[in-house]
Amino acid sequence: MSTNLSNAEAIKSAVRDHYGQAARGGAERSCCGDGGSGDTGGGDRQTLPLYRGEELAVLPTEIAGDSWGCGNPVALASLRPGEVVLDLGSGGGLDVLLAAQRVGPTGFAYGLDMTDEMLALARRNAARAGAANVAFLKGDIEAIPLDDATVDVIISNCVINLTPDKGKVLREAWRVLRPGGRLAISDIVIDGGLDGLPVSEEQIREALSWVGCIAGALTAAQYRELLVAAGFAEVDVAVQHRYSVADLDPQWARAVATLAPAVVHDLVGRFTSSAITARCPVES
Ligand SMILES: C[S@@+](CC[C@H](N)C(=O)[O-])C[C@H]1O[C@@H](n2cnc3c(N)ncnc32)[C@H](O)[C@@H]1O
Repeated sequence: MSTNLSNAEAIKSAVRDHYGQAARGGAERSCCGDGGSGDTGGGDRQTLPLYRGEELAVLPTEIAGDSWGCGNPVALASLRPGEVVLDLGSGGGLDVLLAAQRVGPTGFAYGLDMTDEMLALARRNAARAGAANVAFLKGDIEAIPLDDATVDVIISNCVINLTPDKGKVLREAWRVLRPGGRLAISDIVIDGGLDGLPVSEEQIREALSWVGCIAGALTAAQYRELLVAAGFAEVDVAVQHRYSVADLDPQWARAVATLAPAVVHDLVGRFTSSAITARCPVES
């Protein structure tokens, strides 16, 4: 996937505009659908129930809808009381608030996002939840505004696919994690790559939407390679859900509709919601 600097800036600007509008309630729920409670809001679109009812029950009900994720990284992270957590691309703050409950008053959860409207929404949600052990930071996940070795666990939900330089994000994650620190990410991952299709990978990515979390998705092999190159050990990329056309939110469905039906048929099932876990070696 080639991304030059002006492309990278254009991508970030489009992502910021899209999620700014989403936070104001003016855009469809993408990346990955209205995943909070699995409630379709009365439409016929299927969405993935990402969180169990009892997990969300610890927060005011209106916060559960502020989810643009594709998985449940808090459930992957096995958080313990007293840990410091950082959520890359924290959006409306749902995962930060869930993590803050798990790490308790002796722990702390940071959210990091580059979109002002998302930060404002997250801070409102934190106030609604009465969460005292959270902070939402403004910044780019390619340049994390925290000191080296200050975080126990990094989580992220459907964000890394949106960043132009994923290697930089993972190197930054490694830098801020303490030795032995953990990474627990939910993301869109292409299982098996985009070869063997009647059109090129470049054509497919051009037709698909970047802000809808498809065009920038890594293959599982690329994810593993970048994690190992960043210094991580115990790397695992596991498919949790294979998307079908019926799963797609309207924005995805429109993007996919620009491709020939034969290509769509071949593509279905290659796009997955995957769980990515890794650890910083204690000695590095
Ligand atoms: C698909 S939404 C997911 C939000 C949240 N993780 C959730 O599960 O609801 C992507 C979020 O990542 C943020 N984002 C995307 N690229 C970013 C970057 N390079 N640096 C910081 N935030 C970024 C967007 O502003 C948006 O809030």
